[in-house]
Amino acid sequence: MTVPVVARIGVLVLATTAFYGYVGQMVPQSEVQPPQETVIRSDLTTADMVTVGREIMDGKGLCFTCHTIGRTGALRFPDLAGVAGRAAERVPGLNDVEYFAQSMYEPDTYIVPGFNPGMPAINRAPIGLTDQEILCVMAYLQSLGGTPTVTLQTSHSYYAAPAAPGGAPGEPPTTPGEKLPLDTPSKPMPGATPVKPPPVKSGAPPVKQ
Ligand code: HEC
Repeated sequence: MTVPVVARIGVLVLATTAFYGYVGQMVPQSEVQPPQETVIRSDLTTADMVTVGREIMDGKGLCFTCHTIGRTGALRFPDLAGVAGRAAERVPGLNDVEYFAQSMYEPDTYIVPGFNPGMPAINRAPIGLTDQEILCVMAYLQSLGGTPTVTLQTSHSYYAAPAAPGGAPGEPPTTPGEKLPLDTPSKPMPGATPVKPPPVKSGAPPVKQ
């Protein structure tokens, strides 16, 4: 029995389609995802902040496109292993929290000896971490050779945290109007309205005015 040509072509087309479909299935599918938004709940503990901070550094913060943890040798970017121990010693007058804040909000103010400037300001585009995200990153940095102490209520020179822990659930902990201008008068934070800083809770470093 002879199969009509049209039927043969039909079968060939089907077989070819099925074959390529099958091969296509075997290729690992990588879906491109937009950078993950980390939701910072206002009741995060310091330990939670360490975990969230690490996730932010891996993701949206892009820190590990430059930095390493535990690599030695000739490095282009400072290795962050044990950075908590060095942070309090780097700049006279800055404790570890203030130093980390400065290294993220104004990286060029102090350049780590042996390295070149080039770290982007982490609170501005394109990275654009929020103040709360930066506090979480700080908690993780403190865990590298030290004991994390920051909370979401910690304030520092670049950010005055809300005094009371959290607001209503789902409510963002701060609004832009609550930000204080930088304490360097020459560089006011654009768009910031000076407001009376909220009362400092015991345990949090004093708010600079
Ligand atoms: C484009 C590369 C780049 C990215 C991205 C980057 N950094 Fe940096 N970082 C640098 C460079 C270069 C230095 C050293 C120069 C300086 O002191 O500013 C530095 C310095 C630092 C220091 C000071 C280290 C020390 O030993 O005192 C800290 C802390 C730091 N970065 C944290 C971060 C964190 C956290 C992120 C992500 C949120 C980040 N960096 C993203 C390049 C980068």
